[in-house]
Amino acid sequence: GAPVDADISQLLPGQMLTVSWRGKPVWVVRRTPEMLDILPTLDDTLRDPHSEVSEQPDYCENEVRAIKEEFLVVVGVCTHLGCAPLYRPAVNSPDMAEGWKGGFFCPCHGSSFDLAGRVFQGVPAPTNLAIPPYRYLSSTVIRVG
Ligand code: FES
Repeated sequence: GAPVDADISQLLPGQMLTVSWRGKPVWVVRRTPEMLDILPTLDDTLRDPHSEVSEQPDYCENEVRAIKEEFLVVVGVCTHLGCAPLYRPAVNSPDMAEGWKGGFFCPCHGSSFDLAGRVFQGVPAPTNLAIPPYRYLSSTVIRVG
């Protein structure tokens, strides 16, 4: 499939946009400093905190799973059976379990992921959400694929 460009110039902190790549949604999330601070505190509750068995390019094998920590670029397809997870960025989001720290929730069978797409323990999804290949064409345009 052809690459697709995401214009992030209008994306506000905490917001997410979606582009379609190879028939799949790819999300770009602009993470706030508060969101980024939470990520390292979650490692003990994650199944693959260092993304050793998950899919991402080499240049995203880091704690934030991104080229620039502010922007998460991730395939929006649950690694269990392929449903579309929901974006639940808020800490203690009212429709989430107590202690929710922000992330993604798959309504099909209850898998949950943090704001780096890393899967929590005790849910059906086996691996983290996939990170697609991408690069920055400029500070405001990301090319996926
Ligand atoms: Fe997401 Fe099953 S498809 S939890």
